[in-house]
Amino acid sequence: MNPGVNTNAAARDFSGGPVVEIKGLHKSFGEREVLGGIDLRVEAGDVVCVIGPSGSGKSTLLRCINLLEQPTAGSIKLLGVDVTDPDVDIDAVRTHVGMVFQSFNLFPHKTVMGNLTLAQRTVLGRSAVEARDVALRNLAQVGLADRADAYPAQLSGGQQQRVAIARALSMDPAMMLFDEPTSALDPELVGDVLAVMRDLATSGMTMIVVTHEMAFARDVGDRVVFMDEGQIMEEGPARQVIGSPATERARIFLHRVLHPTAVDDSELGQTEPPQPGDPDYGPPGDTHRRDRAT
Ligand SMILES: Nc1ncnc2c1ncn2[C@@H]1O[C@H](COP(=O)(O)OP(=O)(O)OP(=O)(O)O)[C@@H](O)[C@H]1O
Ligand SMILES: [Mg+2]
Repeated sequence: MNPGVNTNAAARDFSGGPVVEIKGLHKSFGEREVLGGIDLRVEAGDVVCVIGPSGSGKSTLLRCINLLEQPTAGSIKLLGVDVTDPDVDIDAVRTHVGMVFQSFNLFPHKTVMGNLTLAQRTVLGRSAVEARDVALRNLAQVGLADRADAYPAQLSGGQQQRVAIARALSMDPAMMLFDEPTSALDPELVGDVLAVMRDLATSGMTMIVVTHEMAFARDVGDRVVFMDEGQIMEEGPARQVIGSPATERARIFLHRVLHPTAVDDSELGQTEPPQPGDPDYGPPGDTHRRDRAT
């Protein structure tokens, strides 16, 4: 693991082996099975991007890793410890895994500094001085060192999401899970959040990122996992899965995501993100292709 990244004591003591190892993971809600046997191994420093259609089980997979959902069957080892063991200390597991959601979940009545120090003090037992130092360091990392005294409502959505990332980092997690962290943001705010995530990846943080940002997945991900109907349908080097997917389902999904306004399947082989000047280039919802085709 990159020495520049702070990891908590358990992660520092853990030597060798994958950070996360998932075997045969099943999850059902009542009769409905939403994860149908997932195997996934994430090594220290890996950046794994998870893509796939709505309802394919991406969020449920992340939520099982930090036990926000209880798996129905299978095993999840985090730093060598099986988190599905009934005797496991769930709070300890969660301190090793930082999670960032689409919604920022900041406490509105607390300042940025209050949001960043609360769990450090109550869960990790840090002193006020130490928690503040850690918070300031992580705020600097996300480019918001000067906003420590602001309240969430005084920040843009992108800034709030960067605060949420800094809050997660302040717990010195062994890994970070991101569930569509930019999909609630106005388009012009997405870039700053992705840049922070890119820096984090470069610094050596182990990350699993559920995202619809295909350029990010292609450029920052080491590996891309394509999920459909509760299964991993395809997994491989990011550029390979995004650029030339092996399975038909991944090909169709990527085509729809990269060409949201396409009206026919004639370009199914073309999965590179459109570039300025391409006929498909334009914001989602741009109807110029449809207009042209009719
Ligand atoms: N708490 C729950 N109770 C019942 N069903 C659930 C629950 N959480 C998720 N599901 C169902 O599990 C399936 C997978 O949901 P999940 O949220 O993991 O999908 P997703 O791939 O993250 O989708 P999206 O891209 O829309 O976020 C969906 O059919 C969803 O309705
Ligand atoms: Mg989801």
